[in-house]
Amino acid sequence: MATLTDDQKSSLTSGTGIPVDGPVVVTLDGPAGTGKSTVARLLACELGLDFLDTGAMYRAAAAIAVDHNIALTDVDAVLEKVIDADLHFDWTTDPPAILAWMKQLNQRIREPDVTKTVSQIAAIGKLREHMVRKQRLIGQQHPRLVTEGRDQGSIVFPDADVKFYLDADPAVRARRRREQMIESGMNAPSEDELLHDILLRDSRDSTRKDGPLICPDDAIRIDTSPITIGEVVALLAKTVREILASRKA
Ligand code: DC
Repeated sequence: MATLTDDQKSSLTSGTGIPVDGPVVVTLDGPAGTGKSTVARLLACELGLDFLDTGAMYRAAAAIAVDHNIALTDVDAVLEKVIDADLHFDWTTDPPAILAWMKQLNQRIREPDVTKTVSQIAAIGKLREHMVRKQRLIGQQHPRLVTEGRDQGSIVFPDADVKFYLDADPAVRARRRREQMIESGMNAPSEDELLHDILLRDSRDSTRKDGPLICPDDAIRIDTSPITIGEVVALLAKTVREILASRKA
């Protein structure tokens, strides 16, 4: 059988339009309700990459604090409990399910009390350091990755191959959030209430000291307000393919 050189191997594509081997990291950051999670999951599927939802990690930490009656101001107790839970993902499910103490947390992390507290949890500097370390470790174990959050391109994977920043009009984001909740069978508050929560969370996420939500200078910014999720995925997939192909040229 003929042996291929490293150069020949890396120029092969797997039908996904990107090189079949070697690390590929694509980051998606942006505020809540831009369709980021759905887009990241579909993009990962389209490109044959793994998918990391870092919001699920902060949500899991919030669920742990709430369910163990730990005051959010008791930073050391929150951190100790989260470390004890040994948060990790089951990569055999799609999307990967998050586990604490070896048990799937399922929809608990999406419930309203968790959603309300999560931005306070995500502002804890020591907890963020722990999560960043875990996410980089996941990046080593899954080097072909689409990862989404708030700080993936700015802090966690500053050398990512392609960085996107998704944004959308807050009113559109509130409407999308409500539709999403109804679809997953949850009791959805009014759009006005959701808009209020979204603006509060945006302000907390972007003004915190550690790992604030920012658009990295080298990220491609996309306003998803006027386009469908399918169109966003197609646009992102095309962009990733073009950027990776141009590097090989
Ligand atoms: O994307 P999401 O709504 O599931 O995120 C939940 C919360 O976690 C949100 O308040 C922002 C925060 N978060 C963060 O601070 N850093 C990340 N990398 C991901 C999420």
